[in-house]
Amino acid sequence: MPEPAPRLNIWDDHWDFRPEDCPCDVDFVRWLDREGIRDAAIYHFGSGGHHHVGIECARPDRRNSVLAITAAPREHESFVQLALARPELLRFYSAVFGDIYLVNARLLPELDVATLFHLCEFRSARNDAYGALDDLAVTQVVASRIRPGGHLLFFPGSFAWDRANDSAKDVVAAWAAESDFTEIGRFGSLLVYRRAGGGAELAPPH
Ligand SMILES: C[S@@+](CC[C@H](N)C(=O)[O-])C[C@H]1O[C@@H](n2cnc3c(N)ncnc32)[C@H](O)[C@@H]1O
Repeated sequence: MPEPAPRLNIWDDHWDFRPEDCPCDVDFVRWLDREGIRDAAIYHFGSGGHHHVGIECARPDRRNSVLAITAAPREHESFVQLALARPELLRFYSAVFGDIYLVNARLLPELDVATLFHLCEFRSARNDAYGALDDLAVTQVVASRIRPGGHLLFFPGSFAWDRANDSAKDVVAAWAAESDFTEIGRFGSLLVYRRAGGGAELAPPH
């Protein structure tokens, strides 16, 4: 009998708004406000079922455009329900269902900011079964779409950050050593890198 074709490695859960357990999304919106980032293009790894980043960024006083990804079918269904109830959000927020380990630079816009908060948390041999990228390659692809002067943020509060094997910390160190990004420092639970070049300015308003 032939082996069955490998199926997508989904995240079979639904993450509600629990910043006490996972403060990265709340800290990210706080960081955007502290930096005065408005009218920016943002890629966000891990929408959660609450869609906090997308909803907050769409507010009139921010107008940041967010493309989020979730590997959780139930979280994506909550995005569909959100869109049905609040169509005005769709101008600034979209959540795609997929596996970030299949990310394709041609499907990403030029970015001002990206988050890779859940690096190394959920990848396994089940992703290998369909030729998915590894964590270093995902970091390189996402970083390649960030404009000069743009930012990439990580989450040292993650359970995968400094564990013994396959740690996000090691992946980020390997990526940073070969990249044109510089570590800027911590903000709350986050670690911020900035790409060389560009001015301090952000993309022009839409
Ligand atoms: C613990 S939840 C955290 C959600 C949100 N960032 C927060 O902190 O509240 C993890 C998120 O990562 C997403 N995720 C896990 N594996 C993924 C993958 N391979 N590709 C895309 N998203 C993934 C899940 O769908 C979920 O949205």
